[in-house]
Amino acid sequence: MTNYLIVGSGLFGAVFAHEVAKRGNKVTVIEKRNHLAGNIYTKEVDGIQVHQYGAHIFHTSDKKVWDYVQQFAEFNRYTNSPVANYYGKMYNLPFNMNTFSEMWGVRTPQEAMDKINEQRQEMAGKDPQNLEEQAISLIGRDIYEKLIKGYTEKQWGRKATELPAFIIKRLPVRLTYDNNYFNDDYQGIPKGGYTQIVEKMLDNENIEVKLNTDFFDKKDEYLKNFDKIVYTGMIDKFFDYKLGELEYRSLRFETEEKDVDNYQGNAVINYTDAETPYTRVIEHKHFEFGKGDKGKTIVTREYPANWKRGDEPYYPVNNERNNNLYKQYKGLAEKQNKVIFGGRLGQYKYYNMDQVIAEALRMSNSVE
Ligand code: FDA
Repeated sequence: MTNYLIVGSGLFGAVFAHEVAKRGNKVTVIEKRNHLAGNIYTKEVDGIQVHQYGAHIFHTSDKKVWDYVQQFAEFNRYTNSPVANYYGKMYNLPFNMNTFSEMWGVRTPQEAMDKINEQRQEMAGKDPQNLEEQAISLIGRDIYEKLIKGYTEKQWGRKATELPAFIIKRLPVRLTYDNNYFNDDYQGIPKGGYTQIVEKMLDNENIEVKLNTDFFDKKDEYLKNFDKIVYTGMIDKFFDYKLGELEYRSLRFETEEKDVDNYQGNAVINYTDAETPYTRVIEHKHFEFGKGDKGKTIVTREYPANWKRGDEPYYPVNNERNNNLYKQYKGLAEKQNKVIFGGRLGQYKYYNMDQVIAEALRMSNSVE
């Protein structure tokens, strides 16, 4: 029997805890926030499940992961089909026949391809040197300027001409009238929200949960008293930033209750112009097809933000500098034989929920 400490009650920590506790190990989960579930946390307000840390849509082609997560919640048939608002003109996403028809009045896939190829000519024979040139070489100027430029510049806090080309490797172009954002086999939102998933994972007599508890308040004591530690916080912070700081992007959420039944008619609307300071507006009730109190709705505006110590680190910035620095931290991590580093912050990797589950299952199966 191993005595585990799990630092962080996000999806990685919860899956890991669930798996090792099932095998009879003793598990203590500590969480610095005042609630479980990390960034997938949802909270009911006016009968609506509010995605407190941004829109979370579960999608996967990994049947094993999809079957696994069904143990903890029943999923609805939500299909992500965001809409872009560019100065009041609405375009369907991802780029598909609806988008092309709205943009250029084309009707057939051939007409759309001809138009895209004509637009791409601008970059013919040139090697894209930055994100702007890369996007134009892939899809042309119209789509780039109306649907990519402003959104991307807000997201990264930098001009598209100053961003590296590799950020956009491919731009999926769908020549059908299909607004489903994802190509995955399975997709949905848990009926009744995400928090229940983590609650059920941690509902085991071998698991003790302590909220409002920061690992760094008693790091040395924890390292001494537990057989194994699964750490899902920031890897650079674990080592007291001794090799330097990894960079992150942060977000600020502004949530508002509105006395209307239906505010924007869709769960996700992206604001793709450069002037509107937020990137997206989420209307949470549409994740569950309008479920919630009559005459009430909750909307959240998402503002990208620079990150500094103390802010929530939402996205790792996986550029060359940071990936190299992460590799050095990983080297240090490998020498800590008591500690397993996992999840989005512990592995400095942008994981979707299904990938986090797959990784936590893989890693928890390689220990006692
Ligand atoms: P997570 O960050 O959730 O959990 C880590 C936990 O550790 C946190 O609760 C934190 O408080 C705690 N912790 C950190 N340091 C600690 C310390 N020192 N002491 C104690 N506790 C500590 N994925 C997807 O599949 N579909 C989607 O639509 C989205 N959408 C999305 C939107 C936004 C805005 C973001 C930022 C992310 C997504 N994701 C997503 C990704 C998804 O959120 C992600 O895959 C999982 O939440 C990662 O789970 P982790 O457990 O790795 O991290």
